Amino acid sequence: SYKLVSCTINGKKCEKMVDVRSSLTDMLRNDYRLTSVKKGCEVGECGACNVLIDGEAFNSCIYLAVWAEGKDILTLEGLMGPNGEISDLQQAFIDEAAVQCGFCTPGFVMSATEILNSGKLYSKEELRKLLSGHLCRCTGYENILVAVEKTMK
Ligand code: FES
Ligand code: FES
Repeated sequence: SYKLVSCTINGKKCEKMVDVRSSLTDMLRNDYRLTSVKKGCEVGECGACNVLIDGEAFNSCIYLAVWAEGKDILTLEGLMGPNGEISDLQQAFIDEAAVQCGFCTPGFVMSATEILNSGKLYSKEELRKLLSGHLCRCTGYENILVAVEKTMK
């Protein structure tokens, strides 16, 4: 069966009928064409589908689309400034060569955005733990940590 889901996505009010069995990943990718939200494991293990829900990072593959009712959702696309500018964090990923194939990148960027929004300063070890829910098959972890650490300062 289908249910109307009204929420805010990347600052815009959105409303669509959604299959009650759909994940938030599927709703964002298929209904809203927000393809930065990647489908990796689809069981909450890899972080590729990470988005912010009311400011908190979640794996959208294990979050039902209907739970998004009334929520404020931010995907990587929503980080873009009015003239297409990317965020400081995204620039740091580029500068530090923290992107290889790029599949894990949107998820890492969204989790790291939550970390940066907290305004707290973390050590590299703490960052490693905070980002441990993300897998990078290209294994570029060190450069990713450097990019996040650099943006935090
Ligand atoms: Fe959601 Fe892997 S696709 S955690
Ligand atoms: Fe390829 Fe991380 S850059 S999976």
